[in-house]
Amino acid sequence: MVFAPEVYQKRRNLFAKKMKEGVLILPSNPESIMSNDVHYPYRQNSNILYFSGFKEPNTVLVLEKSNDNVKFTMFVPPHDPKFEIWNGRRQGVDGAKKNFFADEAFSIESFSEKLLEIIADQNVLYYTFGINPEIDQLILNSKSKLKEKRKQFPLEIIDPEPMIHEMRLIKQPEEIEIMKKGSEISIHAHLNAIKMTRPGMYEYEIDAIYEYEFKRHGAKRAAYPSIVGSGKNAVILHYIENNDRLEDGDLLLVDAGCEYNDYAIDITRTWPINGKFSDEQKKIYEIVLTVQNECIDKCVSGIKFGDLHNYCVKRITEELIKLNLLSGDIDEIIENEGYKRFFMHGLGHNLGIDTHDVSTIPLKERILKPGMVVTIEPGIYIPDEPDIPESYRGIGVRIEDDILITETGNLNLTEKLPKSIKEIEKLVGSAHSATSVL
Ligand code: GLY
Ligand code: MN
Ligand code: MN
Repeated sequence: MVFAPEVYQKRRNLFAKKMKEGVLILPSNPESIMSNDVHYPYRQNSNILYFSGFKEPNTVLVLEKSNDNVKFTMFVPPHDPKFEIWNGRRQGVDGAKKNFFADEAFSIESFSEKLLEIIADQNVLYYTFGINPEIDQLILNSKSKLKEKRKQFPLEIIDPEPMIHEMRLIKQPEEIEIMKKGSEISIHAHLNAIKMTRPGMYEYEIDAIYEYEFKRHGAKRAAYPSIVGSGKNAVILHYIENNDRLEDGDLLLVDAGCEYNDYAIDITRTWPINGKFSDEQKKIYEIVLTVQNECIDKCVSGIKFGDLHNYCVKRITEELIKLNLLSGDIDEIIENEGYKRFFMHGLGHNLGIDTHDVSTIPLKERILKPGMVVTIEPGIYIPDEPDIPESYRGIGVRIEDDILITETGNLNLTEKLPKSIKEIEKLVGSAHSATSVL
């Protein structure tokens, strides 16, 4: 558990205050098979993490509100000596009560039977379909089973995610502390990767530096598969093959951040593999850096994020016209989305327990508020196409930082990772002259 059980209890009580009389049911993510009987490392559903910190699969949380009483019930994998010898300790029903402050706890094996009691004659059920097909089916089946018993299936089913996401959107001080530590670890990994880079290495070797540094500092894993794109791979937005050789004269774009104590960090830096930007690379890099810094300065409480995105589009378009990579009237290019040939994604997204956090809240529509954490990640990706001057083809640059909105402005959580041309050029490859950075 990342926080004290009281922290999760407070969150549950806050949700209960906002909900109608009824019941909230939160299913865990199903496990996924990697090969035969081997599973992918398990990642708990983010809403369960937010409301309990409980990490085991095959779990269901239930929060019931009636007459302003709140009851928290956990259905968890029971103790099983044989299973625990092979796969490790479980909290069990006793642990759920003692360590996770469940008012009641049961084995998950009794969930299908108890479900009927839980939802019978409730007016409102808060449940998100599509997370766990097995639990979806049990809920759907309970309708006819209740009918047989002459009981009422909930009259109203509400997706709780928009409500939960509103809570998760604003980070509390204890969450910010965790994200600061995750940022430090991710910055350290990027610094070492930049310092270790030299022509002739492979993208997977760079990837391995991140894995090593994340885990060495107590992060569970990379928050998303690290994007290590050298040369023309840098223009593939979600390139994760990470197989190619780092060539002298190319750029390397790395988008990588750790998951530390359940919270994601998301950072991108781009650097020249041989330690020196070419003139064309420098021109593109300077545009992205300038626009990113401008957007960070403007990323404060009261601003609509969509307006900031539009500002970014305008500035990138303006600069690409100056470089003759775009031509024509700026308003027309923006209107016709001609800039999307070079900048085709959003300026940023919410960050938190998920990398693309709180999916039901489109950030573009939002007015920024203190406690939100967003990424600012403009980029320019030049396709390898005949009408583009050869020296610009295949250049891809993105720079991404994680910004906490505060009462007085903002705090760049990842600011300590250098990004000026001068600092970057000094850092690249510097580990090869030192004894060791690891
Ligand atoms: N790493 C994914 C993103 O930047 O959105
Ligand atoms: Mn990223
Ligand atoms: Mn991002």
